Amino acid sequence: MSKPLEGIKIIDFTHVQAGPACTQLLAWFGADVIKVERPGAGDVTRSQLRHVKDADALYFTMLNSNKRSLTLDTKTPQGKEVLTRLIKESDVMVENFGPGALDRMGFTWEYIQSLNPGMILASVKGFSEGHAYEDLKVYENVAQCAGGAASTTGFWDGPPTVSAAALGDSNTGMHLAIGILTALHQKVKTGKGQKVAVSMQDSVLNLCRVKLRDQQRLDALGYLEEYPQYPHGEFSDVVPRGGNAGGGGQPGWVLKCKGWETDPNAYIYFTIQGHAWAPICKALGKPEWIDDPAYNTAEARQDKIFDIFAFIESWLADKTKFEAIDILRKFDIPCAPVLSMKEIANDPSLRKSGTVVEVDHPKLGKYLTVGSPIKFSDVEVEVTASPLLGQHTNEVLADLGYSQEEISAMHDAKAV
Ligand code: COA
Repeated sequence: MSKPLEGIKIIDFTHVQAGPACTQLLAWFGADVIKVERPGAGDVTRSQLRHVKDADALYFTMLNSNKRSLTLDTKTPQGKEVLTRLIKESDVMVENFGPGALDRMGFTWEYIQSLNPGMILASVKGFSEGHAYEDLKVYENVAQCAGGAASTTGFWDGPPTVSAAALGDSNTGMHLAIGILTALHQKVKTGKGQKVAVSMQDSVLNLCRVKLRDQQRLDALGYLEEYPQYPHGEFSDVVPRGGNAGGGGQPGWVLKCKGWETDPNAYIYFTIQGHAWAPICKALGKPEWIDDPAYNTAEARQDKIFDIFAFIESWLADKTKFEAIDILRKFDIPCAPVLSMKEIANDPSLRKSGTVVEVDHPKLGKYLTVGSPIKFSDVEVEVTASPLLGQHTNEVLADLGYSQEEISAMHDAKAV
C-alpha cells in the first residue's frame, strides 16, 4: 500500500529535537526525508547521553526514524554543488539552524527560490522574524520561559517551573508539520512554493492560550475562581501558578492513593465535573451530599474544595490507583492513574495501538520509541530504525546523477 506522502522529497537540515520531530512525522507518512549532516559529526544528539558505547544515542534514534542520512559539508564548494542539485529536485527543505545560518551558508530564501520556485522552505527559530529577541539561539526550556508556560506552571510558593513535555521542541515541530502540509496543499492550487516559519515562543504560547484568557479575567475581576488561591488566598495582578488545578470549568487535583508513602506515582487525577456530582457522591459513599445545598452546586463547593479532596483521599487510602480507577470509571468520573514511564513502557494498550513501539537498530539493538500518535483508518505507520551517520550518502549522490568517480573524489575531499 502506498503511503500518503510518497513522492514528496524533503531535505532535512534539522538537528536536536524541534526540527527532527517534524520531519520524522512526515517520514512516517511516506515522505523521502534526507537528513543532511556534517561529515564525521552529524546531529549532536547522536552522541548526547549515550547508554551504549559507539552506538547512536536514544535521543537521536527516537527522533530520526524512517529517514535517510546524507553527510555533506555545505561550506565546501562540492557540498554547495550537491545541495544545489538537491534543492532543484526536492519539494520541501526543513531547517532549524541558529538565526542567519542558512544565509551565511549562501542559501538565502531568494536564492533557493531562484533554484526551485516550487520549494517550500520550513524553518524553526526561537523567536519569530522581527521579534526583539530574533537573534537568540533557543532550546526547550528557554522557549517554555518565553512562551508563558514556566510562569504559570508549578506551585504558588515555588519558582517558575518547566514542563517535562517538550512544549518548545516537539510541539513546535508539530506546528511546523501542519504548516508544511498546508503549504503543500496550496502548492497544488498555485504551483508555487513558499516560506513557512514557526517560532518556539509562539508554539508554546499557542498551548498556553487559556493562561492569556486568565490574565484578562484577572484584570477584569481581580480573582480567578478555579485557582486554589480562591477564595481564601490573595491574587496579585499576574496569573499565578495553580499547582495541579484544572484549567477549565471543573476543579480537579492529584490525589494520594494506597502506597503513596513509598511509590512516587501512587496518585490519581480526580475531576469534579459539575454534572457528575451525583455519581461522584454515590461512588464515594456520600449520598447525603447529592442534594445538600452546602455541596450541590459548584459555587457552594468552591470554598471547601480542598476539604472535599481530603475526603476523597481518605476514601482512596485503602485502594491502589488502578483499583480506584476501576471503581470510578463505573460512575463516569473523568479520572486517570498517574502513570510512571516504566508503566507506560510496559502498557499493553499502548503497545497494541502502536503508540509505544519496539524498533531494532543495527548498533543499539532493540529499543522503545513513541510511534505515531495519529491513527488513520487507511494508513499504516511502520516505524523503522534511524539511519547510521552517512548510511545513504552514496545512494543519494548516485540518485542525483553523480558518477562513482565523482563520489569518490567528494569523499577524498571530505565534502561528504
Ligand atoms: N555543513 C557545514 N556546516 C554546517 C552543517 C553542514 N552540514 N550543518 C550545520 N552547519 C553549520 C551552520 O551553518 C552554522 O554555521 P555558522 O554559525 O558558522 O554560520 C553552524 O553549523 C552552527 O549551527 P547552529 O544551528 O547555530 O548550531 P548551534 O549548535 O550553535 O545552536 C541551536 C544550536 C539549537 C541553539 C540553534 O540551532 C537554534 O537556535 N536553532 C533554532 C531554534 C531551535 O530549533 N532550537 C532547538 C530546539 S530542539
